[in-house]
Amino acid sequence: LEPVDAILAKKDGRELTGEQIRGMIAGFTAGDVAPEQMSALLMAIVLRGMTRREIGDWTAAMIDSGITMDFSDLRRGGRRVPTVDKHSTGGVGDKITLPLTPLVASYGVAVPQLSGRGLGHTGGTLDKLECIPGWRAEVSVDAMRSQLGRVGAVICAATADLAPADRKLYALRDVTGTVASIPLIASSIMSKKIAEGTQSLVLDVKVGSGAFMKDMADARELAETMVALGADAGVRTSALLTDMATPLGRTAGNAVEVAESLEVLAGGGPADVVELTAALASEMLDASGMHDVDPLRNLANGKAMDTWRSMIEAQGGDPDAPLPAPRCTHEVIADRDGRLARLDALAVGQAAWLLGAGRSRPGQAVSATAGVVWHAAIGDQVRRGQPLLTLHTDDETRIEGALAALDGGVDVRVEPVSRPASRILDRV
Ligand code: URA
Repeated sequence: LEPVDAILAKKDGRELTGEQIRGMIAGFTAGDVAPEQMSALLMAIVLRGMTRREIGDWTAAMIDSGITMDFSDLRRGGRRVPTVDKHSTGGVGDKITLPLTPLVASYGVAVPQLSGRGLGHTGGTLDKLECIPGWRAEVSVDAMRSQLGRVGAVICAATADLAPADRKLYALRDVTGTVASIPLIASSIMSKKIAEGTQSLVLDVKVGSGAFMKDMADARELAETMVALGADAGVRTSALLTDMATPLGRTAGNAVEVAESLEVLAGGGPADVVELTAALASEMLDASGMHDVDPLRNLANGKAMDTWRSMIEAQGGDPDAPLPAPRCTHEVIADRDGRLARLDALAVGQAAWLLGAGRSRPGQAVSATAGVVWHAAIGDQVRRGQPLLTLHTDDETRIEGALAALDGGVDVRVEPVSRPASRILDRV
């Protein structure tokens, strides 16, 4: 393989051969293709794109860089247990994995949920769960299998040997301006999900200011690309396109999102979080052959909460321990009577990040308590002097920056404001 030939081919808009793709990915993973060569190829891909065939070969090469897991022989009480997973492309206040995983598992399906830590303004599921005293993200493949059999639900970190090419490539993309590419995002996500060995997969592709995909056309293309990659690999895959113009629920951060997830598991919680959790649960159960199940039933009767408690305890966590509280809070007050007309997802995400909920470099610590809580949804009546948002942080000096990030992102208007009908925009 001559890396320069592959770089020049893509620069000129030609299709890469399967051999070139396998050679570049295997070579980069092994250290034989230099980071500057891979960076040049990635930038050419961002600008020129890839065909479906190239994306398929790119994904397969990333899967082949590491181990693949297989849970197809999972049994409980002599009965085969189907596996299903969910992946969200990331949004602000997106805590859905927390209530969804135990909810789906409470119906007798196994959910092997490999999750990540946050980078930038979108939070990571593992960062949220690590607020629970004692809870461990690291679970060996054997322990994962055993927990899936006993509890049905695992949320844990991917082991380093699962799609290692993606880990190395993502770190390079992050510092070379090459994250924003539908072929690269689709292959990155799907290589990890296919290697994880789930039988079915439901994707939550976010659209709007707080998401990777800012418009419907791009989101649809990403969803269609991932659904096709899943189908080609024998993973039953579907996708919901969901709204991320405003942040989900009422909280963005770490401990605050765990608390909100517990409200949902207790049968309450914000309407949009419940709607999306139920819609994704229906998709996941349907993909596992359980049709016409009411996903709200096990939220109301406590079974999803029971599974949550077992899942947390199985990973060393104490489900009864109090969540950490912030050292300081700051309220943003409504300056007029009216209705909440604007709450921009990106502004809220950046504020939460600046308060300490997110990181700017991989490996950085995050604050468990930092975050933003908002007290009204779009269209809700608010009164002058009433708190609109509460900022949580352990470091008072961060509040000024968070307020600057929110400037222009929150608006109360006197005129009528229509409430968004649903978070769910379409299905692929
Ligand atoms: N999430 C991933 O796992 N990979 C990407 O490239 C983007 C988002």
